[in-house]
This record gives sequence, C-alpha cells and structure tokens, in this order.
Amino acid sequence: MVPADFLIATATVLGFVTLLKNLLATARWLHATFLRKLKNLRAYGSWAVITGPTDGIGKALAFELASVGLNLVLAGQNPSKLEPTSSKLRERYGPTIEVKTVIADFAKLTGEEIAAAMTGAMEGLDVGLLVNNAGMAYPNPTYFHEVDQQLMESMLRVNLNAAVWVTKAVIGGMLKKKRGAILNIGSGSSVYVSSFPLQTLYASTKAFMAMFSKSIGLEYEEQGVDIQCQVPLFIATKMTVLRRRPMLVPSAETFSRASVRWIGHKRQCNPYWSHAAQAFVMHALDGITVWYVKRYMEWTRNEGLEHDRHL
Ligand SMILES: NC(=O)c1ccc[n+]([C@@H]2O[C@H](COP(=O)([O-])OP(=O)(O)OC[C@H]3O[C@@H](n4cnc5c(N)ncnc54)[C@H](OP(=O)(O)O)[C@@H]3O)[C@@H](O)[C@H]2O)c1
Repeated sequence: MVPADFLIATATVLGFVTLLKNLLATARWLHATFLRKLKNLRAYGSWAVITGPTDGIGKALAFELASVGLNLVLAGQNPSKLEPTSSKLRERYGPTIEVKTVIADFAKLTGEEIAAAMTGAMEGLDVGLLVNNAGMAYPNPTYFHEVDQQLMESMLRVNLNAAVWVTKAVIGGMLKKKRGAILNIGSGSSVYVSSFPLQTLYASTKAFMAMFSKSIGLEYEEQGVDIQCQVPLFIATKMTVLRRRPMLVPSAETFSRASVRWIGHKRQCNPYWSHAAQAFVMHALDGITVWYVKRYMEWTRNEGLEHDRHL
C-alpha cells in the first residue's frame, strides 16, 4: 500500500470508530432519558429523607417518591410550610405512606445540631434514600463584594454544611445495611460553564457538591450505596424568579419526574432532556456561553436594582 492510501484508510477507520462511539453514546442517552424503567427505589429501604421539601424541586420530588410508595422524612425550616406539604402528601397517598417532619433551619444550626436532629428523626427507620436538595442562591445576581454578609454565611451553611452533615448522619446506617442511595442536587452552573459570574458563591457551593458526590460515590460504590449528583440547568421555581417560563425550562414537577428515573444510575447526570441538549451546546461553546452568562447576569442585576428602587 502506498503511504497516501495507508493514510486515507487509517483516517477512514478512525472516523468510522468515532462515529460509532458517538452513535452508541447517543443511543445510550436516548434509552436512559426516555425508555429506561424507574429502579425499584423501595429496594434501598422503605424511607426517603428529603431536605428542603417545602417548595420547588424538593416538594415535587417528595410527591414523586411518595407515588412509588416511599415513606418520607421531610426536613425543612418553616413549620407553616412543612405542615401543609405533609398534609397534602397524606391526603393524596393516604395510608400507603407515612410522613414525618423535622424542623431544621440549616442557616442557623451548627453541623452537629443538624446531624443530631436528623439522627433523632430517623431512629428506627429503614432509610434507603437521602435527597440533599435544600439550597439557596442570591435573590438577584450580585458582585461578590456586594453580597450581604448574613446571606453569604447562610448560603455556605445551607448549600454546603447541611449537605455534608446530613450525609454524615445517614451514611452509617446505609453502610451497615449495605444498601442505600444518595441524590445530591448540584447545578449545571458549576459543570457546563467554566465560570458563572454574579452568582459566584452559589456556583462554587455547587462545584463542591459535584466533587463531594463524585468522590464519596467512588468510596462507597462497592458497598451497595449509590451516590449521585444531578446537575440541572434552569427550572421554574421561586429560586429562579422567572416572570414567565421559557419553552425549554421545565417546571419542578416535570424535572422531578425525570430526576427520579436517574436515581442509582450514574455518579453525575443531567436528567431532563432539554437541559442535557442545552448543556451539550453550552459546553462546546464555552467562551460564548460565559460571555452570555455575564451579560445576562448584569442585565438581571440592573433590572433587580431598578425594581427595588421603585418599591
Ligand atoms: N431552580 C433551578 O433552576 C435550579 C437549578 C439547578 C439546581 N437547583 C438546586 O435545586 C435545589 C432546590 O432549588 P429550588 O429551585 O427548588 O429552590 P426553592 O424553590 O427556593 O426551594 C428551596 C428549598 O430549600 C429550602 N431551604 C432554603 N433555606 C433553608 C434553610 N435555611 N433551612 C432549611 N431549608 C431551607 C426551602 O425552604 P422554604 O420553603 O422554607 O424556603 C425550600 O424548601 C437547590 O439546591 C438548588 O440549588 C435549582
């Protein structure tokens, strides 16, 4: 074979292998996103613990998990929101599930106090699933030097401290039984773009969540505990304060239906199809994405300031 023919043949084989690899990856993603059946989550244990179950994603997840027959421990800060949430769950799912509540303000309690409250609430329960969902962001995009000190402290406590200490309170029981799953709600803001200005602290806490999840996921993968970080993009909740919901932004309920189908399957994932598609483009065009995020955040900040001026 002459060298030119050899080069053409090698390039053709390499091209074919790459194409095949990408086709396989797409087929696997399509199957996981649209066809794969939900795992039997009760096989991990009959109780699920959810932090931040009184609004948005956490609340929607509570209803999804109750619908597959899991009993729930709801850990929230606000009794006047916890009560109606648990009543609605009992009303809808009746005697098929039990619901317990723990009042814990993660912004105020120390890590040890959080762990003690959770351990007390879980005593004697077969806890198979933990969802670390509670989280907060700046109400409006903000430059780091302008972030209110109390807000900064609360965000670190709720987004980081609480997740670490609740995990610490739960993991021992799972290891003893050699079964369990932990779902940590991270964010695409720390995974698909190389920086996320004006929500710096929020994106940084979520980067911690991603690394924490991947690393303990590896520590316990052979001990029957599946640990996963989901990294969604925008979802219409009170955190995102969207005036109207754009087409590709799911509601908390739509996202949660996708979310539960991924539990126990991958160490890091983006369960909702339109998020996965957007993330692919964002990541491929990182320079443009970061430029756009900065402009968008500045615009939203100025809108927010203007709005506050008229209050
Ligand atoms: N929405 C999005 O676009 C998006 C995207 C990616 C990731 N996420 C992540 O998804 C998770 C849920 O967010 P969401 O959009 O559903 O927000 P959300 O509607 O604001 O709900 C947040 C939940 O966390 C609870 N929480 C806040 N501060 C707390 C504290 N000090 N102690 C205990 N609980 C506290 C809230 O309690 P109250 O009901 O009492 O306020 C609420 O139940 C967060 O971790 C967020 O970072 C959201």
